[in-house]
Amino acid sequence: MTENTRDPEHEVTPKCTIDGPGDDRRVFLAKMALMGGALVGASCTSQPKAPAPPAASPPPPPTKGSHRGAQAHVSPGQLDDYYGFWSGGQSGEVRILGVPSMREIKRIPVFNRCSATGWGATDFSKKLLGGKMSGDTHHVHLSYNGGTYDGRYVFVNDKASARLARISCETMEVDRIIDEPNSQGTHGILPQRHKTGYVFCNAEFRTPQVNDGRDMTDPSKYGAMHTAVDGETMEVKWQVLVEGNLDLCATDYQGNYSFATCYNSEGGVTLEQMMGADQDHLYVFHIKNCEKAVAEGKTIKVGDSPYPVIDARGPDSPYVLRVPVPKSPHGVNVSPDGKYAMCAGKLSPTVSVVQIDKLAAAFAGKIKPRACVVAEPEVGLGPLHTAFDGKGNAYTSIFIDSVMTKWNIAKAIKAFKSKDGKTPNPILQRLDVHYQVGHTNASMSETKDADGRWLIALCKFAKDRYLNVGPLHNENDQLIDISGDEMKLVHDGPTFPEPHDCVIVAKDLIHPNKIQPRTDPRFAIYESWAKADGVNLKKDNKVIRRPDGTVRIYMTSQAPNYGMRDFTVKTGDTVQIILTNQDNVEDLSHGFCVSLHDVNFLVNSNDTNSMTFTAGSPGVYWYYCPWFCHALHLEMRGRMIITS
Ligand code: CUA
Repeated sequence: MTENTRDPEHEVTPKCTIDGPGDDRRVFLAKMALMGGALVGASCTSQPKAPAPPAASPPPPPTKGSHRGAQAHVSPGQLDDYYGFWSGGQSGEVRILGVPSMREIKRIPVFNRCSATGWGATDFSKKLLGGKMSGDTHHVHLSYNGGTYDGRYVFVNDKASARLARISCETMEVDRIIDEPNSQGTHGILPQRHKTGYVFCNAEFRTPQVNDGRDMTDPSKYGAMHTAVDGETMEVKWQVLVEGNLDLCATDYQGNYSFATCYNSEGGVTLEQMMGADQDHLYVFHIKNCEKAVAEGKTIKVGDSPYPVIDARGPDSPYVLRVPVPKSPHGVNVSPDGKYAMCAGKLSPTVSVVQIDKLAAAFAGKIKPRACVVAEPEVGLGPLHTAFDGKGNAYTSIFIDSVMTKWNIAKAIKAFKSKDGKTPNPILQRLDVHYQVGHTNASMSETKDADGRWLIALCKFAKDRYLNVGPLHNENDQLIDISGDEMKLVHDGPTFPEPHDCVIVAKDLIHPNKIQPRTDPRFAIYESWAKADGVNLKKDNKVIRRPDGTVRIYMTSQAPNYGMRDFTVKTGDTVQIILTNQDNVEDLSHGFCVSLHDVNFLVNSNDTNSMTFTAGSPGVYWYYCPWFCHALHLEMRGRMIITS
């Protein structure tokens, strides 16, 4: 494996040869994929090529100066061209990376407890999280208008607790978190692209409906929800109940359809059962018909859940069309021209290309759903996701082969039509990535403005690419230049486990405030407290003992001082610190940490934040500013005096 590029001639028909040197993991995963059934559409019968060379020898880094495409190096003091929004996987967070430098610029706590900011411990965040301190973020997408990003919101799922969070791009802070009703394993999400309309969310796990102890032993009665959430209000509007589990999600550019891949149309509950059928589906949801059913009351209620549910289990209906695709598809991505939904095969080495403007005829019963599939190029073993360059090419991440496959959409359609073998090979290049790539995305790829500059391969295994840091390896997010005819690997980016997906957004579309604008809904809460207590939030430093016995400490900060040098409370008091930062200059954050009380939170310029705790044993406890704000930062402190 000394070349990044393989001979496309040899890759037309995906082979089951496994050629990673010493890559036991790759062999293992290939065997896993082959287990329990033939790969649909694959003419491969061979087992992994043996024997593999004993030692892994990583490919050489890209030769310096050989790269004639886009410039990946961003010099000190220079800014990146793109915001990269990365999900944070089991960390429960979202991260902002600069692209192409791959520098991590920010971590946004979402479903996790963050010690640096106090997220999960402050009053507002605690209420949003409802007592949960962990999450599993997979898919991060921004709000749209007119087919491109409008720079207002970032949406992200929590697979662990079936939630959807929204981050305001004004401050890059979470402003809403909602539960997905009647759902487990909320996985694929995607906002509508013609405007900030619905955000669609897929439940990956089929569960009894109602899940209250009934139907537990009868999986045939399980179902999964496709949920429409209003992206503006973050209210659940309606749900569609289907029989198969729902994986990745997509939307078209017109607002007509949403999509979900279904890898378990068998309705199995074990791995073997889920892999049983040779065919699964791309589910297509007809949004107007669903809205009509909701308006006309043709819905059911599930248990105590107040939301209208369209029961679309069973055969195709005006609500759901099931387009047959080879078994166990995974990613679904819509091309920037809005014409095609690419359905990656996962256990089939193919990508099924669904022509979106044929779907109306299929819904009308004029053509069979399968007739909407206009190409099915063989791209490699374990295709998962597809990105686009806006120039008619697609880039599919190939998990088992550990490659990115570049293919031409028009050529693939032509080849599928003719079937004479004389058409040009749609596969243009296969580039080794390191290793086992999951998601991929390209700059502006999920918009009509895909610009064909950068591609990210989010590799699940880093193995030998970094210094050994113990059993837990980082992820390896690789940057690939796609501005030329050939993909070129230009950078390895280590990330803390485990970002699943990312989107890459032109920097001109994102305009956060550098000073807290105090427009977030949480400020109305602080103002209501202050009003009730006769306090001016931005000026006053007061201790208010409330009728219910709780103590509110209203305090200000201005470098290097707190507005209060000390305050006194009693042992066992419920104490709420409401801290307002009077500093109104860029990058001047303070915080509030109380010794021995597990209290530590951030308050940015012009911000207010609050946290509630119980006063401990009598004594003196220093509170201090944990953020380096001033030459006298260490002196920025005071005493909490606790009396008995
Ligand atoms: Cu304020 Cu350090």
